[in-house]
Amino acid sequence: MDKFIIEGGVRLKGSVEISGSKNAALPILAATLLSDGKSVIKNVPPLRDVYTMLRIMRYLGAKVDMEGDVVTVEPAGYSNHTAPYKLVSTMRASVCVLGPVLAKLKRARVSMPGGCVIGPRPIDLHVKGLRSIGADIKIEHGYIVADAPKLRGARVYLGGNFGSSVLATANLMTAATLAKGKTVIESAACEPEIADLARFLTKMGARIKGYDTPIIEIEGVKSLRGAEHSIIYDRIEAGTFMAAAAITGGDVLIKHANIEHLGAIVDKLQSAGIRITRTKDGLHVKKTRSLKPVDVTTLPYPGFPTDMQAQMMALMSITKGISVIIEKIYPERFMHVSELARMGAQIYLEGPRAIVQGASRLSGAPVMASDLRASAALMLAALVAKGKTDISRIYHIDRGYHIIEDKLEKLGAKIKREKEE
Ligand code: EPU
Repeated sequence: MDKFIIEGGVRLKGSVEISGSKNAALPILAATLLSDGKSVIKNVPPLRDVYTMLRIMRYLGAKVDMEGDVVTVEPAGYSNHTAPYKLVSTMRASVCVLGPVLAKLKRARVSMPGGCVIGPRPIDLHVKGLRSIGADIKIEHGYIVADAPKLRGARVYLGGNFGSSVLATANLMTAATLAKGKTVIESAACEPEIADLARFLTKMGARIKGYDTPIIEIEGVKSLRGAEHSIIYDRIEAGTFMAAAAITGGDVLIKHANIEHLGAIVDKLQSAGIRITRTKDGLHVKKTRSLKPVDVTTLPYPGFPTDMQAQMMALMSITKGISVIIEKIYPERFMHVSELARMGAQIYLEGPRAIVQGASRLSGAPVMASDLRASAALMLAALVAKGKTDISRIYHIDRGYHIIEDKLEKLGAKIKREKEE
């Protein structure tokens, strides 16, 4: 296993290129399984989670090739309908093969994704959505077993107690493309990754209206063709580098950062006193004055993303004053709190609320990464902490950030990857 060693205290300066979006790439790669034709997907980030998805697709029988950031999928004739535990257990997002495989092969067997450190992650909305268009679904021996000799369009309310679900929307939208008649998804996820999936499906020949809105309409078609598509840039990676610039008092151009996907993050950083300017290449982030605390509540898009909550908490822990961070999507997603506390942050947890008493000076310490975004928050804290921070178990970071140490090093950070003893 690898670890990062970061020597804090350097103001980041320069420009950084954001990679393609992990969370757009995963359901889009899965959706190539809806057709027999060849699809070419560009701007795919070379990440552990992407490799896991490609392994599952190969296991199902598709021919898959990745060169640089381009993935070619030739699914013709794939016939295995089972995504096994040994692959699914390493990545929850594997569940997004359920909709495409069910629609194409009329049956699918996908291992139930396991528990997760960010809290319970039920699949009831995935099941509800697919059942509503005619799938027969059972949970057997740890597997979601779905059969659907005939899918029929229907109207379905897909909201849950925590709002819309990104991957439940992806599963229903992909399956509905090949159903007979019209499907209407109410309380659909509006995340840019869902809109990107809808754009790809449209290129394959699907008929979809209203993506980008909470009501998506899908008119089923008989078959889909392969298509070429370039994935959108990763808004969470962009947000993480914006927070890195802010926390180090830096001056960084975030290339490919798309302001249209970053409204809530830009708003909170600006309220905290960070100067953000749009340029033709992306967003220029600069700290020009002392920071102010801001309160943050995570919400489904276009609200503030849960995937930026931990990074924002790291920033608030060095900002003088009190800020309240409320996690409404994953009320237990606070694994980073105790590790940030090891570095001197003062954060009090009260259910889904974190009260951050900022301006404690952080100091380097050995800390442990627990999930992808928690690890990103520890890296941010380490960049500003006095002295050296060892972050172990960084395979979590490799799941979602492409060559993050090279990108940070180019901005001046003192960071090394080493083997853990
Ligand atoms: N939920 C249910 N029932 C379901 C599904 C979800 O109650 O059947 C609840 C969840 O427990 C949560 C809320 O709905 O409270 C939203 O979860 P969602 O289903 O939207 O999450 P997801 O689709 O499994 C994606 C991202 C996550 C991101 C969430 C929320 C991918 C591959 N993953 O997960 O990304 O946190 O949406 O925006 O797109 C990450 O990249 O670090 C990450 C965890």
